[in-house]
Amino acid sequence: MTQPLPPEFLDIATGLLQTPATIAPKYFYDARGSALFEEITRLPEYYPTRTENAIMATHAQAMAQAIGPGGTVIELGAGNCQKARALCECIQARHYVAVDISEAFMREAVAGMRAAFPALPIDAVVADITTGWALPAHVPKGQRLVFYPGSSIGNFDPPQAQALLSSMRGVLGMEGALLIGVDLVKDTAVLNAAYDDAAGVTAAFNRNMLDHVSRLIGADFDARQWLHRAFFNAAQSRIEMHLEAAQDVDVTWLGGARHFAQGERIHTENSYKYRVNDFVALLRQAGFAQTQVWMDAQQWFAVVLARP
Ligand code: AVJ
Repeated sequence: MTQPLPPEFLDIATGLLQTPATIAPKYFYDARGSALFEEITRLPEYYPTRTENAIMATHAQAMAQAIGPGGTVIELGAGNCQKARALCECIQARHYVAVDISEAFMREAVAGMRAAFPALPIDAVVADITTGWALPAHVPKGQRLVFYPGSSIGNFDPPQAQALLSSMRGVLGMEGALLIGVDLVKDTAVLNAAYDDAAGVTAAFNRNMLDHVSRLIGADFDARQWLHRAFFNAAQSRIEMHLEAAQDVDVTWLGGARHFAQGERIHTENSYKYRVNDFVALLRQAGFAQTQVWMDAQQWFAVVLARP
């Protein structure tokens, strides 16, 4: 007897049957996908991570002063927790909560965090922040700092991003703050190279999604039959990533099947790039009236501190 499709993965089957087909970017992040993303952040072409890190390092004192000491850092999409280390140190955090969608990867990262800060109370929450998330009841309510680095907000279209920012606003209360990284519009060649690197790591990251999804929904994708496509869509101000069938492909999964003609694509990611004023306006619409912006000299990336 064949197994039924797990109901939590119905969205994958639904997306695969759309034209064009889609798979949500959260499915990049199984253990291998999270490791490949880490590798991406070290690529010469992938400027966002190192640019954001440089902004954080350069302006650490000003940020710490604006945030104030002794709060609870709630990091969303914590990944390897690397970014939170400097921040927790700088603002003398009294509690740290890591929220991430990838369980296996986060357990390890949180263990490293515990070793680095033996006296700091640390919580690990495995959650998909787009479908609602709750913090453990013992997390202090006052002085919360939601930390959402890496321009992960770029994965959402502006209306979704606004809704997500509003949900963060809800977690913060009146005295909390949001520290968020956002990638900015820049030269198209720079953007395209960052998502189609010479070493092929981003291509491997994109294709890995098919192996991950195959395990989740019992599909028989062969990642070798799919080409990595990534380009800046200027009209929508976003990088798009797709997987393109290199030949005619038939795919089956639990309870479903689809034929892809050669050249047909699965849309796997959008990564929106903002003009800083547009992002500040979005924050305002989400209930953040006060903002402070730090950028690198080239204005490639912004780190914004936002308060209700
Ligand atoms: C984790 C969503 C910020 O959009 O730059 C990197 C993901 N995809 N290379 C990004 C990603 C391809 C990344 N975010």
